[in-house]
Amino acid sequence: MSDAASEVRANPNAPTVETVLSVHHYTDRLFKFRITRPASFRFRSGEFVMIGLTQESGKPLLRAYSVASPFWDEELEFYSIKVPDGPLTSRLAHIQPGDEVLLGRKPTGTLVLDALTPGKRLYLFSTGTGFAPFASLLRDPETYEKFEHVVVTHSCRLNAELAYSQEVVAGLKDDPLVGEASAGRVTLYTSCTREPHPNEGRITTLIETGKLFADIGQAPLNPETDRVMICGSMEMLQDTKALVEKAGLIEGSNASPGAFVIEKAFAG
Ligand code: A2P
Repeated sequence: MSDAASEVRANPNAPTVETVLSVHHYTDRLFKFRITRPASFRFRSGEFVMIGLTQESGKPLLRAYSVASPFWDEELEFYSIKVPDGPLTSRLAHIQPGDEVLLGRKPTGTLVLDALTPGKRLYLFSTGTGFAPFASLLRDPETYEKFEHVVVTHSCRLNAELAYSQEVVAGLKDDPLVGEASAGRVTLYTSCTREPHPNEGRITTLIETGKLFADIGQAPLNPETDRVMICGSMEMLQDTKALVEKAGLIEGSNASPGAFVIEKAFAG
C-alpha cells in the first residue's frame, strides 16, 4: 500500500486515492485527465472538488478543480492548465494512466442548477479552464429539463485552446443521456483574443457591443427569461458580472437562488 493509501486509512477525512485512467494533452498549457470515481463520491454537475498529489514529504498538495464530467458518469474528468512553476500543475502535467491522484471528499460550488431560479435561456460564459464546470452541466439531462436553450461561450488566447469545448459540444449528439434532449438546443460561441478568429475579442467586449447576440441571432440578456453562469479569472468574473448586473440580473447562491452565479476558475 502506498503512503497516501495508508494515510487515508488512518484519517477518514483525508482525500481518497484514485487511479488515473487516461490523459489527453491539448496544448503545452492545457490537458484533460480521467480518474476512477469511488462509489461513495456524490456531486452535483458544476461543482468543484480538491484534487492533488502526494508530495515528497508525504503531505498532500491539493487544489480546487471543477469536475468536468456529469454527476452520472462512472469516472471523473478534469480539465487543467499547466503552469511551469505551479506547485501542483507542473507535476500533474506528467501523470500517466495507472498513477495515483488524490481526490477530496467534499465537492461544493455555486455553478449548480439549484442556485438559479427558473428561466428559458441559460448562458454559460467561460474563459480558459473556466469551461470545465460547463462541460459537466452540458452533459446533465437536468440542464435540458430546466432550460429551452443553452448558449455556452468559451474565450481563450489562442485557437488551439478552444479544442476541449469544441470536443465536448460536438460529442453531445452521441451522448447516451443528453443526445436527444440537447439536439438543436445548444449554441457554442467561441472567441480568441491573441490570434485571428472570426470572433476576435474578449467575451465582455462581445457582450457590450452586442456582437455575441447578433451573431447567434438571440435577443440581448433579459432578466425575465435568462439565467447566467460565469467562470473564469477573477478579473473576467468582475467584468462579466458587471455587465450581467447592468442587464438587470440578480446574483444567486445555493441558499438563495437567483438569476446568475459566478465562480473563479482554477488557476495555478
Ligand atoms: P486577453 O488575451 O485579452 O487577456 P487567461 O488564459 O489569461 O485566463 O485568459 C483567458 C481568456 O480570458 C483570454 O482570452 C483573455 O483575454 C480573457 N480575459 C482576461 N481578462 C479578462 C477580463 N477581465 N474580461 C474578459 N475576458 C478576459
